[in-house]
Amino acid sequence: MTRTLAVTGAAGSIAYSLLFRLAAEASRSAPGDSERIRLRLLEVPAVVDRLEGVRMELEDCAFPALEAIVCTADPEEAFAGVDAALLVGSAPRRPGMDRADLLEANGAIFAEQGRALGTGAHPDARVVVVGNPANTNALIAAEHAQRAPRADGEVLSADRFTALTRLDHNRALAQLAARTGAPVKSIERLAIWGNHSNTQFPDLGSAAIAGEPAMQVLARVCGGPDAAEAWVAGDFIPTVTGRGGAVIEVRGASSAASAASATLDHLRDWTHGTRGRWASMAVRSHGEYGVPAGLISSFPCVVDADGSARVVEGLELTAEQRSRIDASVAELEEERAAAERLGFL
Ligand code: NAD
Ligand code: LMR
Repeated sequence: MTRTLAVTGAAGSIAYSLLFRLAAEASRSAPGDSERIRLRLLEVPAVVDRLEGVRMELEDCAFPALEAIVCTADPEEAFAGVDAALLVGSAPRRPGMDRADLLEANGAIFAEQGRALGTGAHPDARVVVVGNPANTNALIAAEHAQRAPRADGEVLSADRFTALTRLDHNRALAQLAARTGAPVKSIERLAIWGNHSNTQFPDLGSAAIAGEPAMQVLARVCGGPDAAEAWVAGDFIPTVTGRGGAVIEVRGASSAASAASATLDHLRDWTHGTRGRWASMAVRSHGEYGVPAGLISSFPCVVDADGSARVVEGLELTAEQRSRIDASVAELEEERAAAERLGFL
């Protein structure tokens, strides 16, 4: 099978990790399983020359699965017929900024790219928005894709537009594993709800470690249920929600390799399925858990082997969980209103 993938911001920091791992993963597919990929690399015109250096390095890796590389500054060329688009290209925040501060600078990019995806991408294409504010940028791109004219009369459904909260999910896994001493692989049913922002809700309410409720394990290691609750509220949640800002403070630049790794986790799970495990993905709401339909919000999701993703339904939420989710969803509604005021929706 040959898949065509577009990656935007392809000369940027995240892409410098993402592209090489993507090609390496495809090249590691089982012998006889002839997975091949073609890459379309999109950049702004001023940077497209520098992008040639990325192409040269990709060529120099001699990845067996990498069939072709196109470098372009034209979104229509980048997205024509693609099976997946990883929308990374956009300005990152700097110290002292919130991700929502980027909407004015980045929203127009996602309107233009949504239109080009709507016009030309494969009608079942998977779109993963990484550029911040990721949820609202995904919403903008999805809306513009719906309005785009297509020669084949098909529509790239808004349900095919997702935003990356897998980095938050992975951060939460890492914190819980470190506190309990449990292997990451033994942790299940952890969820990120809402916005990829400080209001997101990293939720351990259903989480299990080797089949045992995570809160029970935490009570053991923290010295009782109250101490476990205190660790979750006072340490775990602020660490996960503030991790992006903390990396910027220390590194002087926003997370790149971990963001690339999470993007690959998201795309791999969405393509090949989660085998019943939960993965956090920001997907278009159809009203699940009271999240207004149309918003792109993070939920616990499962993906079947055929690549169909759905929100885990039927969870009983406590008042505390409900109010944390509502707070993040309220912020998504504010961002949507801001995008409307700025003329992106
Ligand atoms: P970067 O500045 O290193 O690279 C961004 C690249 O995008 C640049 O090369 C730039 O020329 C390019 N670009 C800008 N406008 C473009 C356009 N219209 N079309 C194509 N390319 C364009 O930034 P980075 O560190 O790679 O981060 C990219 C984005 O990802 C930022 O918005 C950052 O905040 C976000 N991010 C999101 C997550 C997440 O978990 N969702 C994690 C980390 C970073
Ligand atoms: C992150 O979570 O690391 C990214 O969204 C970058 C940022 O601005 O925090």
